[in-house]
Amino acid sequence: MLSSNETILVTGGAGYIGSHTVLSLQKKGCNVIVLDNLVYGHRDIIEKVLGAELIVGDINNYALLCDIFRSHNISSVIHFAAYAYVGESCQSPGKYYRNNVVGTLTLLEAMRDSGVNKIVFSSTCATYGIPTENPITESQIQQPINPYGATKLTVEKMLQDFDQAHGIKSVVFRYFNAAGADPESRLGEDHVPETHLIPLILLTALGQRKAISIFGNDYPTPDGTCIRDYIHVSDLAEAHVLGLKYLLAGNDSNTFNLGNGNGFSVKEVIETAKAVTNRNIPVIQSERRPGDPPILVGSSDKAKAILNWQPKYSDLAQILQHAWRWHQQRHG
Ligand SMILES: NC(=O)c1ccc[n+]([C@@H]2O[C@H](COP(=O)([O-])OP(=O)(O)OC[C@H]3O[C@@H](n4cnc5c(N)ncnc54)[C@H](O)[C@@H]3O)[C@@H](O)[C@H]2O)c1
Repeated sequence: MLSSNETILVTGGAGYIGSHTVLSLQKKGCNVIVLDNLVYGHRDIIEKVLGAELIVGDINNYALLCDIFRSHNISSVIHFAAYAYVGESCQSPGKYYRNNVVGTLTLLEAMRDSGVNKIVFSSTCATYGIPTENPITESQIQQPINPYGATKLTVEKMLQDFDQAHGIKSVVFRYFNAAGADPESRLGEDHVPETHLIPLILLTALGQRKAISIFGNDYPTPDGTCIRDYIHVSDLAEAHVLGLKYLLAGNDSNTFNLGNGNGFSVKEVIETAKAVTNRNIPVIQSERRPGDPPILVGSSDKAKAILNWQPKYSDLAQILQHAWRWHQQRHG
């Protein structure tokens, strides 16, 4: 069970999903230590908004990790730290294998050598590649089509091996598209550079970008644009708390999709954003991008059944409202 006796190490906790998860853990009374090298994370969010302890450091630093595990009596790890730009991973795969795979290997070795044997890991729907059917269940074949997805799949395999050999138990979450912001606007999405559709649309609504590009309008979908599954970041954060509880209760390693279960097309997202923001959002119609499947929608039935996960914010307009409030406050 989660309690104030638990001290959880959150790697990448100064990032988007990590910071929302720190908030959810704090609400449950857990002690949280954030380890983040601040390459993309935000110091002000951890120190001023969340008031958690921030250790500025790298998951590739074995000695630092062992020192943190020993000195803070860490019981378990939630591991977000990674690079996550698909395009960059195609141009610089080494950078991605080093950070996502070698970094996680260093973390797992430090856990093994320090007697820490529970980890919740951020994987991705990108491990599935082009899906053979939608909604995607966890048993669907994983054939990533870019190095980013391949690094996450490699870590999933490493976790199985570390369980087998060293008894390190893991919950692997394969997220679909994280979206939205803390409903009370304390936290939100602030990636630089930004590549995700919803923040790009909202930055356009704020006049900070000229237009939003739609890549392809001739896909086999009702309006011709790609359909994706947008899952509210606070629902994702809650799932991490449940994943941790599951491991602390002594359960075996397991893997879960985390998605909304409903797909929304790019055009639908733009139209809903226009209604929510009441602003003009200019659109540029562009060519399809290589490697974009027409539809990516996840089934999260397993997480609902086993973890008793009950997402609260599956309505697209609400996801956009929360993100809009945050964007106006942070970037307006
Ligand atoms: N955002 C999404 O839609 C999405 C979807 C699927 C999976 N994921 C995965 O979820 C995780 C979190 O994603 P996010 O959107 O919050 O990303 P983010 O970039 O906001 O957060 C990642 C954090 O990790 C830190 N970091 C990176 N490398 C590090 C290292 N070597 N040592 C210490 N800190 C390091 C960064 O500074 C950043 O604060 C990532 O692992 C990502 O691959 C995200």
